[in-house]
Amino acid sequence: MKKKLLVLICLILSFVLCTGCSKEPEQSNEPSLLLGFSQIGSESAWRIGNTRDIEEAAGKQGISLMLENANQKQENQIAAIRRFIAYKVDVIAFSPIVEDGWDNVLKEAKDAGIPVILVDRDISTEKEGLTSCLIGADFYREGQMAGEYLIRKADSLGLENVNIVEITGTINSTPMRQRQAGFMDAIAGDTRMNVMESIDGDFLKSRGEENMRYLLDKYGEDIDVVFSHNDEMTLGALPEIEKAGFIPGKDMIIISIDGGQDAINVLKEGKINCVVECTPKLGGILMDTALKLKAGEAVKEIIHPDEQVFSDEQDTAKIEPRGY
Ligand code: AHR
Repeated sequence: MKKKLLVLICLILSFVLCTGCSKEPEQSNEPSLLLGFSQIGSESAWRIGNTRDIEEAAGKQGISLMLENANQKQENQIAAIRRFIAYKVDVIAFSPIVEDGWDNVLKEAKDAGIPVILVDRDISTEKEGLTSCLIGADFYREGQMAGEYLIRKADSLGLENVNIVEITGTINSTPMRQRQAGFMDAIAGDTRMNVMESIDGDFLKSRGEENMRYLLDKYGEDIDVVFSHNDEMTLGALPEIEKAGFIPGKDMIIISIDGGQDAINVLKEGKINCVVECTPKLGGILMDTALKLKAGEAVKEIIHPDEQVFSDEQDTAKIEPRGY
């Protein structure tokens, strides 16, 4: 009897072990990572291109993306980050509309053990270790490249005095502060350069338009240069310059930043003289970095993409389609 029982147990055991051996590895449809991303809004072709790029990169890498659009409001971004924490996402990413006011919510993310990636823009904080890294353009260098172009252009035209108006991006945002600083530093040693006024255009086309009207009313033909912190505001300003009877690109030197397709088309027409590139294509680097953070790997503190200058110094017909 005992012998029969032993044989039965052996049979059952070998059956269980064999089924275990021949079993295929389980196929999982689980996403590799859950990423919460708070986008600033949809204020520009750049921003829309950036959102699209992030969505596509997440799709390609099998990352589940919780995307929230803050419609240009910091309080909406803070609320989104709190939702990501409550939802226990693996990694949080966000593009801070302005630099200050993030410490409390970032401390909450830190306490919850969720790593945070800054995308596109930086923050100012006194507390160490609230964010893991920053993936975004070198805005200071962009401003510098704009200033360096202007000096070359003034040289080539033989200008003796250069009156500049500047339409800036959102006050207290990283691109606004750093583009302005880079531009001012680049032209600082050139005594021909005179910045008549800097005015906040909030990165919006409508504000580019209304600011340009105001600047033309105030300075008229004294304006030699319009330095605008993004394409959207530039595209708003150009029709106002034409309405006032000036030819943009000839009567006034127009310098823009971003390098979206619409602005590049206008550069090709000769109505913009220079566009400094700011690439919105940050999605791939963001996904790679988020995966590394989830795996507990070290990441670079600051990741800047390479950027270039498009201008009337080159054969603009050769500029490839921009994709945003
Ligand atoms: O932060 C990047 C800037 O934000 C881009 O230059 C601008 O177009 C966008 O709205």
